[in-house]
Amino acid sequence: MRAFYLESYGCQMNLADSELIAGVLSGCGYRPTDAAEDADVILLNTCAIREHAEQRVAQRVRQLIAARGYREGVKIGLAGCMAQHHREKLLSMVPGLDFVVGPDGYRRLGELLEAEAPTADVQLDRDETYEGLLPARADGVRAWLTIMRGCNRFCTFCVVPYVRGRERSLPADVLIEELETIAASGYREVVLLGQTVNAYRHDGVDFGELLRRCAAVDGIERVRFTSPHPADMTDSAIEAMGDCPEVCPYIHLPLQSGSDTILEAMDRGHTVSEYRELVSRLRDAVPGMSFSTDIIVGYPGETEEDFEATSSMMDEIDYDHAFLFKYSAREGTRAYKVAETVSEKEKGRRLQRLIEEQEHRSLASNHRTLGLPTEVLVEGPAKRQNGWMSGKNPQFKTVVFEPTDAGPGDLVRVEVSSATSHTLVGRQTGL
Ligand code: 5AD
Ligand code: SF4
Repeated sequence: MRAFYLESYGCQMNLADSELIAGVLSGCGYRPTDAAEDADVILLNTCAIREHAEQRVAQRVRQLIAARGYREGVKIGLAGCMAQHHREKLLSMVPGLDFVVGPDGYRRLGELLEAEAPTADVQLDRDETYEGLLPARADGVRAWLTIMRGCNRFCTFCVVPYVRGRERSLPADVLIEELETIAASGYREVVLLGQTVNAYRHDGVDFGELLRRCAAVDGIERVRFTSPHPADMTDSAIEAMGDCPEVCPYIHLPLQSGSDTILEAMDRGHTVSEYRELVSRLRDAVPGMSFSTDIIVGYPGETEEDFEATSSMMDEIDYDHAFLFKYSAREGTRAYKVAETVSEKEKGRRLQRLIEEQEHRSLASNHRTLGLPTEVLVEGPAKRQNGWMSGKNPQFKTVVFEPTDAGPGDLVRVEVSSATSHTLVGRQTGL
């Protein structure tokens, strides 16, 4: 049997797409392998969000092509957002590359692999939702379920609408059926995925209604979702979060900047005070609500004052976690044409400041849980603490605890006895 080797980069949507790719390849008679040197097909599922992500892949694929040497018939390809971003140009940019496939071409992977000459399949398709294709899901307690694809927002800095195409949602009935299969396979938690996941809408079913229907599926103990857009967060979704105990009290809500001037320049579609109001509506509706965010520093025009506004907004919202990025100009986006005003060095300084502030904030937040019980969905052995168990609490914090009879998939109560900025440590006190 022929084998494929798949390496994945980027966001959870892309990792979920890798499961889809693996499903398609299995359907074409390939088996997965962890060793690139044994594979007949080597595929990197790539990310294009920042230049750094692309540079890493460019290096890695050249390395794999060199290692392949003259092994007959071994094909190497690039999939995902970077493939879509550069399209067929990649075939000449990377000598030895056999195929390029964008996020809407995975259904045709089998044919692509039969092609005699280097080929690109980079047609975006407004209708492709991958309905009917079965992903080969990784084992574990948590499954991903892609409920919508694409993005219509065109934030000025972002390449996603260009490489993922327009918004399209899957029918709710199809999703619920798939979630029932997911539950029957033993998963206890689902993460609903989409580039703007809360823009979900199909045949009159909105995101709030879908959350309720997912929460009602037998065997699914926890429902999460990522990433929502602040301007798409409706009362219907907030009420569903408040009403359904299965929907976790945690939201990753990208802020990008705490300055109205920059938010407007980015065309984010909301102001700082609208974001603030949304956070307080969520806090009022959902007990124990926890927030994380994405921030970009050094967007063109960002002054010291704008940056300070971001820093104080982060303090005010009191995020439990933040993904912090230096602005990276992406060809094809609207902001690409705008001259940069913040030097790399200054971006680095601003980033470092926010990283340090967030570390303190996360630590303080974790310290507030000391002595309190928290519910953990057990995933398996802890990575660092030998013999200990690990899982997530509803707020998506990692909790490690002394070993008990509890195993993967169990929901247990753990009392927190110590904490770092990234992990809660404790002892199981109940089921
Ligand atoms: N430069 C830096 N960060 C970016 N992001 C998206 N595009 C860029 C860019 N050009 C960040 C945003 C987004 C997250 C997924 O990546 O913060 O929310
Ligand atoms: Fe990119 Fe904005 Fe769409 Fe998010 S909402 S994927 S940041 S364009």
